[in-house]
Parts: sequence; C-alpha cells; structure tokens
Amino acid sequence: MSTPIVIDCDPGHDDAIAILLALASSEVELRAVTTVAGNQTLDKTTRNALVVLELAGRTDIPVAAGADAPLRRPLRTAAHVHGETGLDGPVLPEPSARSLDVHAADLLAETIEPGVVLVPTGPLTNVALLLERHPDVRDRLDAIVWMGGAIGEGNVTPAAEFNAFVDPEAAAAVLASGIPVTMIGLDVTHKALFTRGHAERLRGAGRAGRFVAELSDFFQRFHERSYGFDGSPIHDALAVAHVIDPTLVTTRRANVEVETASQLCDGRTVVDLRGVTGRPANAEVGVDVDAERFLELLCSRIATLA
Ligand code: BDR
Ligand code: CA
Repeated sequence: MSTPIVIDCDPGHDDAIAILLALASSEVELRAVTTVAGNQTLDKTTRNALVVLELAGRTDIPVAAGADAPLRRPLRTAAHVHGETGLDGPVLPEPSARSLDVHAADLLAETIEPGVVLVPTGPLTNVALLLERHPDVRDRLDAIVWMGGAIGEGNVTPAAEFNAFVDPEAAAAVLASGIPVTMIGLDVTHKALFTRGHAERLRGAGRAGRFVAELSDFFQRFHERSYGFDGSPIHDALAVAHVIDPTLVTTRRANVEVETASQLCDGRTVVDLRGVTGRPANAEVGVDVDAERFLELLCSRIATLA
C-alpha cells in the first residue's frame, strides 16, 4: 500500500534529493509539492522544485508557491550552504512547467485528506498559514513528518537548526497544533553522511543519478569545510525515508517547545526527553538512525530513476 504524501520544501540540495527519493519509491505517492522561502528566496525555491520534477519527468505533479517570508521576521536564507541559485552545482535548465496560480496553503488544504502525510522540509511558514487559513484541516491531517529542529545541537547558530531558526513562530504554532508531528532533526541527520563514494556510485546512473552526484559535489564541500564532515547529511531525504520505512529512525515521544524570544537561543527546539517539565508530549523525536540502511535505500532508489 502506498502512502500519499505532500512535500512542502525550499529546494535546496537535500530537498531536491528528498523529492527524487519520493518519486523513486512505490511506498509513497507524491501528490503535490509546495514551496516556501528558506534556503533561498521563494522565486528560486519554486523554480528549483519545478526543475527537479521536470528532470524526473513528473511535471504532472502540481506545484504551488507559498510564503516569501517568515510569519513575523525578515527572511534569512542559506546561500552559504546552497549557493546563489539554491541548487548550485549542476547546470540547471529553465523549467518549462509553471507553478499553479494558488497559494501553497490553499493547495495543501485541497490535497490533504485523511491518510495523507505532510512532509515539510523547510521553515514551517506555509504549514502555519495552512492552519490559520484552513483550521478545519486539523480534523483530517493525521501526520506531519518535519525535517527540522534538534535535541542537542544547532547548525545555523550553536543553539538552532536552520528550519526552526528561520521561522520559529511558525514552528511553535505547528508543534502546538495538536497534529501528530515527527521531528527528524540534526541529531539523526548528522549521523547519516552521504560520502563521495555514494556520489560516485550514482554519477553513472542516468540523469537523476548524475544530478544527485553533482548536487552532492557542491553540498559536500560546504560540510567538509565548515564541519570537517566526511560527507554531507541529506537531511530532508531522511524525513521522506521515514515515511517509506518507519524502522530506519528510532523516535521517542517528548514535549518540544520552540524558543522565540532569546538573543542566543532563538529557534532552539527545547526537547524534554526526561519529562522534567511535566508538559505533555506533542511530538515523536528522532533519536537514532540506521544510517547504512538509509543510505543504501537512498542510493538504490535514486539509481532506479535513470
Ligand atoms: C535544513 O536546512 C536546510 O538548509 C536544509 O535544506 C534542511 O532542510 C537542515 O538544517
Ligand atoms: Ca530544506
């Protein structure tokens, strides 16, 4: 049985690979892609989503652009990680398809029905707007699997993960919504590094394989330089992989709150793993990952897209 999913994203190297993983996996059926400003500005993330779908020959999947800035803050992009285009590395063709003339929040509301899993892989601005504009969606949205946050570390600041940091108010609203949220954070994504070996394996595997290898060439340089990593975390693909195979990531139920008013810790996801606050659990939080199985799944699936 195939799980219908919608990806709300800001491509972004790892968002692009997450989309390709979904398209290559029969366990999930990608019903729509919505875009948000994050890694780059909204025009660029939307263009990139269209490019990726076109590369995979799936221009039938509807795309809608959403928020061009966080709910209550100016946009902070990650050009230092993803480059000026948001997908630096491969030569990007001009997409022939266009996004729909509707807001992402409205396309999400239309597409979400019981059984559909929403997989946000960027700042949660569109998802917060969805809850605000279409409160009835709470009754039919039974699962959000979000790549974002962290228990014990940060990447954009020492305290905060990028997607939570860019729009902490949106993340706080989604975590408070009562909708079951799974948080695939840096604690697990940083344990599963896509190496140069993985890239070489895919480089000869058709158009999609080459595209992923070229994305990784660029993305990996940043992670080597900045973190001394021997590879790059394909954060967003792990969220999609969790829907494909929920045994890859081990999760624990916990209360997660998002810091929205701190000079040093803005955007920090405060995860109460020990239950010391007495606050009710509102999320499943990724605490461990079978990295080898995830990377094997990722490479073998992308290779089939040839
Ligand atoms: C997250 O931030 C973005 O740069 C990536 O696409 C990923 O969604 C990792 O912190
Ligand atoms: Ca992303």
